[in-house]
Amino acid sequence: MAVDLPLRENENIQGDVLAGFKKDQMVLLMLTFEDGIRARSWLRRVIPRIATTRQVAEFNRAFSAARKLSGGDPTALKATWMGLSFTYSGLERLLGKAPYPSADPTTTLGAFQQGPVPRANDLGDRDDSNPSHWLFGNNKTEGQLHAVLTIASDTAKDLENTVTEQRELAAQYGISIAFQQVGATLEGSRRGKEHFGFKDGVSEPGVRGFDEPDPLRPEWVKDHPGTRLIPAGEFVVGHQRVGNAPNPLPAWAFEGSFQVVRRLAQDVPGWWAQIARQLPVLKEAKAIPADATMEWVAARVVGRWRSGTPVAKCPHADQPFNTVAANDNDISFLNDLEGHTTPLFSHLRKTNPRDGLQERPGADPFPEDPVMDRRRIMRRGSPYGAPFDPTSEGPGGPDAARGLLFVCYQSDLVQQFEFIQKAWIDSPAFPPNRPEQPGPDAMVGFTGAVNWEHEGGEPVNLSFQRFVRTEGAVYAFLPSITMLKALADGRLPGEEPATGQPVDTFLPVPDRQPKDGKSWYWAFRTVAGEQRYRAISIAHGNDHTDRKETDDQPVDTWDSFTGVTQVDCLLPFPDRQNVDGKTFYWLFHSTATQQRYRVVSIANGDDHRDAKEHDDAPLSTWPALDGVARVDFVLPVPDRQRVNGVSLYWVFHTLNGVQRHRVISIADGEQHANGIVRGDRRLAAWSSFAGIDKVTAVLPIPDMKQVGGRSWYWVFHRDRYRVVSMLNSGDHDDQIEVPDRPTGLWTSLTVN
Ligand code: HEM
Repeated sequence: MAVDLPLRENENIQGDVLAGFKKDQMVLLMLTFEDGIRARSWLRRVIPRIATTRQVAEFNRAFSAARKLSGGDPTALKATWMGLSFTYSGLERLLGKAPYPSADPTTTLGAFQQGPVPRANDLGDRDDSNPSHWLFGNNKTEGQLHAVLTIASDTAKDLENTVTEQRELAAQYGISIAFQQVGATLEGSRRGKEHFGFKDGVSEPGVRGFDEPDPLRPEWVKDHPGTRLIPAGEFVVGHQRVGNAPNPLPAWAFEGSFQVVRRLAQDVPGWWAQIARQLPVLKEAKAIPADATMEWVAARVVGRWRSGTPVAKCPHADQPFNTVAANDNDISFLNDLEGHTTPLFSHLRKTNPRDGLQERPGADPFPEDPVMDRRRIMRRGSPYGAPFDPTSEGPGGPDAARGLLFVCYQSDLVQQFEFIQKAWIDSPAFPPNRPEQPGPDAMVGFTGAVNWEHEGGEPVNLSFQRFVRTEGAVYAFLPSITMLKALADGRLPGEEPATGQPVDTFLPVPDRQPKDGKSWYWAFRTVAGEQRYRAISIAHGNDHTDRKETDDQPVDTWDSFTGVTQVDCLLPFPDRQNVDGKTFYWLFHSTATQQRYRVVSIANGDDHRDAKEHDDAPLSTWPALDGVARVDFVLPVPDRQRVNGVSLYWVFHTLNGVQRHRVISIADGEQHANGIVRGDRRLAAWSSFAGIDKVTAVLPIPDMKQVGGRSWYWVFHRDRYRVVSMLNSGDHDDQIEVPDRPTGLWTSLTVN
């Protein structure tokens, strides 16, 4: 019977969560966005490279099939996968606003909003693990961390190529690398093992709808005895959860997953020296056999032998050459509720107590569904650093950095990762109500007293130190592909932006460009058939937060605007800007039948006194406007202002209902001699205007003029706007940076 596994076909969930990249080489690029709008443009470039569940699942299936046939890793089958997640401040920067209001810190939204730093103490990140020592995630070293780009490859070469390519792409969009964290499978006999020497990544949850169920025991994964099938909603937001628990997360989070990244440094000699110290103590107390070795004790601290073989199945010795035993996940603790074989403080029983957890000794063990199943996490980490080699003076040496790059996915940060870390790993009183507290996880938990229970007598109280140190931590959200696309447009999926009052034109307030970190404009709009204006401000910086500064006023409250019914555009004189405290403008305005222009001046100062300097005149007095019926707006050519006393402009105008643009020149001087430099062209000649039939206004982004050789603009057309950029030189190559969004997103234009 064919089994329906719809999640294997899913093209919306990123590939690492359910399918798993499973690559030997990985790099996490921790990114800082200088500017939210530019980061959106970068995101649009990156999205096609983000791996989906379907792609990764298909590859992994083909890889396993080929491996079965050839008996080794098929070298011809290679892939480089990418995944992308954002921190709360990363989402905030992309959206230009908080993704949600302040959330209760006991919820996953609250945890994500806070990030790991304020929660460090609770999660055991104290003393030398405290955030002030972290290499990333503490916001001290390289600025805020906004995104984590995961790149995973089969070969070091492919990884390096993609990392270089992605670093370069990021740099083009003002994105810096706050930290680059590598991870790589250890080589030779250590392959698949973590640095203490134990096989890692054996027990991963199966996922309903993704992994095939065992026909005889449908709660377990086929061909993986002991691996339970967990509802997908425990790892992917919005799917069914254990016990049909409600999903408290907003709709935009659908098919995303919360990612935890922790750099956990491992002191390998320290850890083994501790095992060596405990061995004679345990022997003296007759808690372990007289011939027990360090390997024997260490295996109990982990719960598996080095090979991966479970202590529960093979209590006496490892099975180093038995690959079936090494991958055995069919472990039950029902016959070992006291932890005499696999101790209660072992890493295995602390992180997944399976069927062996009681409320108190003598009580019935908790059922795995729903109690244990809702605490599972999807681990996707990798070791980093060279293996310990006491004879090495190089990377293997005792002082070299090495550890576990711990990465896991879940739909609830608090009830899954944090619960395991806090309530299980670090808590000495877990499992609860024992006559003597079991102590913290003896492999990775806190420094503390561990009680070694055994059949022969009283528990032996041992003092265990922690040899795992936290060196960096991030909480991130790995969005669905749908959400990534929405974020590239600066919105959350399903967010219905309010429709806005279209704008007719903007006039920069001459002496406030900028003032106090904001640039000010008068925005002219037609409200209820009447031309009005209001002052607005746009903050410099990443979010360009805009604000209405004054209420709407009719335009004729300005002395110089008397008789004006429709303002089309205001063009500052090239050579009369802020001269003796005044700026002169050509004001193009129209009635139903005709456009005319006049000269006005605006003085600096709080009341911006204006004056009409020249009466209305027809456009025909300008040679440069020959054949123009109506000027819509004028855009200065960024690198051609007052070059040898001449300035160039693009003039956009409408003739017979079709908007076109030409290039004109205006010379400095009394006469402002002007002429046509290049004749009319259709709008479509600019690729950044694709799909636009008429542009109403173009506003240079105030702090993004001539940034990295490009100038950035907001282009308003009808009730929408987009962000475009243009090279400052040559043929002024232009491109769309952020596609259309409703002008309703401009608070300054929409609020009354
Ligand atoms: C340096 C730190 C760590 C090391 C060296 C380490 C090592 C291991 C090893 C050797 C195993 C057994 C093999 C396997 O089933 O994959 C394991 C299992 C596991 N670890 Fe860790 N681990 C570390 C940190 C953590 C942390 C911080 C967590 C969670 C907060 C965690 C959660 C788990 C879980 C859930 C399992 C599977 C248990 C099972 O289902 O049997 N580990 N780890």
